[in-house]
Order: sequence, then structure tokens, then C-alpha cells
Amino acid sequence: MIVSPLRPDLISEVERLMALGEPFVRPRTSSDYWLYARLFSSTCPVALEGGTLAGAVIAFRSQDDPTDVYVQDVMVHPDYRRRGVARLLLDSVRTRAVGWGCHRLYLTSEPENRPAHRTWLTLGFRNAPGDRHVDGVQVLADFKGPGKDRAVYELPVSRQP
Ligand SMILES: CC(C)(COP(=O)(O)OP(=O)(O)OC[C@H]1O[C@@H](n2cnc3c(N)ncnc32)[C@H](O)[C@@H]1OP(=O)(O)O)[C@@H](O)C(=O)NCCC(=O)NCCS
Repeated sequence: MIVSPLRPDLISEVERLMALGEPFVRPRTSSDYWLYARLFSSTCPVALEGGTLAGAVIAFRSQDDPTDVYVQDVMVHPDYRRRGVARLLLDSVRTRAVGWGCHRLYLTSEPENRPAHRTWLTLGFRNAPGDRHVDGVQVLADFKGPGKDRAVYELPVSRQP
């Protein structure tokens, strides 16, 4: 498995991959992916096996708090799940964040997305305190806009001393 930054020539494959993520991941437009490949590629890694796209992560360093990296999408092709692809991709983002001196990766998922919840916890993220619980998951109301309640997960990162 090779991990590399998102490139413009992979955009249509990334769109097809993201379309398989419904209902939890939805594809963005090709011009969004073009921007990610042109401006944010070092935090938008893709995983390729023999030229096939196995997974992709879209993440960005915050400008409001440059010690934060926000992970917008994590998507692994159904044929490649439970093979460590999400771990590999998030490790790549983590390494980039550590290089910048960032302190935290964070992401959100929908409370009913149990595989995602299990994945984040296994990878060392903590479910941030919310204002209610849904089946044991802490959830913050309106986190992504009105009516868009989300479970928030964060992973502290730092350079090894
Ligand atoms: C969630 C998702 C990204 C996980 O990707 P993945 O590559 O399969 O995850 P990994 O193989 O790196 O798994 C790491 C660990 O997370 C846990 N995990 C992953 N998927 C799991 C599942 N379905 N059920 C329980 N635990 C799971 C396991 O502990 C796993 O380690 P193990 O396989 O050695 O036991 C993938 O299921 C996916 O793309 N889902 C659809 C899109 C989505 O919901 N994305 C998140 C939206 S916010």
C-alpha cells in the first residue's frame, strides 16, 4: 500500500470512492477536490494498492487555530476495510501535523456511525464531552450547523521529546 498526497489526476477516482460512503460521507464537487489537491495535498493523503484507490482522507490545518488540524472526510473502499488503511492515512496526517508543531487532530462523525466510532477510539482519539449521549456516544448539538449534531473526536499530537 502506498500513501501519497492527493493529485489532480486522481480526482475522478476520489469522487467515485466518496460516493460509496453514503450516508456518512458524501462526495464534494470536482473543483473542491481540485483545490484540495492544489492547496492542501499534504493533509489530503490517498492510499493506493497496485494503482487502485483504497482510501482517502481530506484534512486541513486551521487558520483560526494553527495548532489544530481538522479531518473532514475519512473514506476507505469497502473492499479494503479492516486492513489498516484508515490507520495509515490518519498516521500520515498526524505526521504532517507534528511536523508543523500542531497539538491536535479532530474530526466529527454522526453518532449512529458505530464503525467510525470504534475506529476513532481504536486509533487513540477521544470522544469529546458533549451535551447528550446517544447509545454511549457523546454528542454536541448543532456542531456542524443548525440540526447537525455530531460526535466530536480529538487526538492530541506532539513531537516526541
Ligand atoms: C470507518 C472507516 C474509515 C474505517 O476504515 P478502515 O480502513 O476499515 O479502518 P482500519 O482498518 O484502519 O481499522 C483500525 C481499527 O479500527 C477498528 N475498526 C475499524 N472498522 C471497524 C468496524 N467496522 N467495527 C469495529 N471496529 C472497527 C478496529 O479496531 C480496527 O483495527 P483491527 O481491524 O486491527 O481490529 C471505514 O469503515 C469507512 O470508510 N467507512 C465508511 C465511511 C465513513 O463512515 N467514514 C467516517 C465518516 S466520519
